[in-house]
Amino acid sequence: MKKAGKAQIAPLTLLIVEDQQSHRRVLEAHFSKHYQVLTAEHGQRALDIAAQQPIHLLLVDMILPGMNGLDVLRQVRELHPDVVAIVITAHPTIRTAVQAMKDGAFDYITKPIDLEQLEVLLEKASEQYRLKEENRRLREQLRSTYDLHGIVGRSAAMQEVYELIGKVSNSRATVLIRGESGTGKEMVAKAIHYSGNRAKAPFIAVSCAALPETLMESELFGHEKNAFTGATMQKPGRFELAHGGTLFLDEIAEVTPSVQVKLLRVLQERKFERLGGTKTIEVDVRLIAATNKDLEQMVQEGTFREDLYYRLQVIQIYLPPLRERKDDIPLLVEHFLQRYNEENDKHIQAVTPEAMELLMKYHWPGNVRELENAIERAVVLADPDAEYITVDLLPRSVVAAGQNR
Ligand SMILES: Nc1ncnc2c1ncn2[C@@H]1O[C@H](COP(=O)(O)OP(=O)(O)OP(=O)(O)O)[C@@H](O)[C@H]1O
Ligand SMILES: [Mg+2]
Repeated sequence: MKKAGKAQIAPLTLLIVEDQQSHRRVLEAHFSKHYQVLTAEHGQRALDIAAQQPIHLLLVDMILPGMNGLDVLRQVRELHPDVVAIVITAHPTIRTAVQAMKDGAFDYITKPIDLEQLEVLLEKASEQYRLKEENRRLREQLRSTYDLHGIVGRSAAMQEVYELIGKVSNSRATVLIRGESGTGKEMVAKAIHYSGNRAKAPFIAVSCAALPETLMESELFGHEKNAFTGATMQKPGRFELAHGGTLFLDEIAEVTPSVQVKLLRVLQERKFERLGGTKTIEVDVRLIAATNKDLEQMVQEGTFREDLYYRLQVIQIYLPPLRERKDDIPLLVEHFLQRYNEENDKHIQAVTPEAMELLMKYHWPGNVRELENAIERAVVLADPDAEYITVDLLPRSVVAAGQNR
């Protein structure tokens, strides 16, 4: 077997259930090199063994004295849900094979057993088991990350982000979140708000790119009745609505010069007037801004005010692109699998090793959002009873990038 390089991994435990002693001996002798082999001559003995220790792989004869192979398989699976089983059939009828697969067998082999063929099958079964094991590990890790408002990731870079979130959440200091599109800037803004002492007050988000200048001003600062044509009623702005809480200004680089001036004043004095109004309004608002633009360059070019820039970046949180923290990919994939399984009523357990290799190789220009979309797409396209995301379910761009190397 070509197992070089994997020597440090503890061997898997293989339980062989076979009533014929000579067969049992041959199998045990042959597979002891690579597995920790246990044997049982009938079903009850197999269950006794399985009750006492973990079983990773099960090789079980279909016809046994007493309970048959499928009963053994079902009961061992109850004790060890991740066990990967291969069933030995004397008469290779489609019906028994189909039934075996239905009962959760990974594969089957017919008598007389070809040892080489079985060796290959067991190798595949081992890979399958490792995949399940890895998956369980990820699920456990996920459970412990959920407390940070759904932000997933354990890379060193993300640990730094969590630490900063914790440090700033209870202060009123302005935070500037930077990072490419889809890296999770808005999630971090929400985590700061909801993990801090303002959590019960509103979190108000404004996308500065979405609105033309005049509307932007009245959105942020509100307006009095008749402040402009169409202003039939007085309207409070987002700053007022966010009182006591957090105002999140997304895509801050898009803010026009006149709004920049007004923002600067609110940041310095926490005061402003509504459009068309004279009354000065005071607010207690914590500001979080986000951008994927090079603000420093914009300051140099004169398109972004330097004084506002310094006010905004009191504390900076940088979210690195996904390609620079690829060790987060398996965890994110597991997270999105769970979400989209639920949404689509599917039961996909994992991504095959080949598909995962491609996901790890890809450069993810759209970052976590692009990965999320890829997983959602794969889950939707997968067969109703599919257990794995296979390469053919991945976006063409991901597959193509893997082939180019
Ligand atoms: N660390 C993460 N864990 C879980 N989901 C994430 C993470 N980062 C991003 N996402 C998901 O990716 C998507 C994009 O996240 P978000 O909107 O926060 O990114 P953004 O940096 O604000 O992007 P843009 O610059 O395009 O507005 C969201 O659907 C979010 O759920
Ligand atoms: Mg965003």
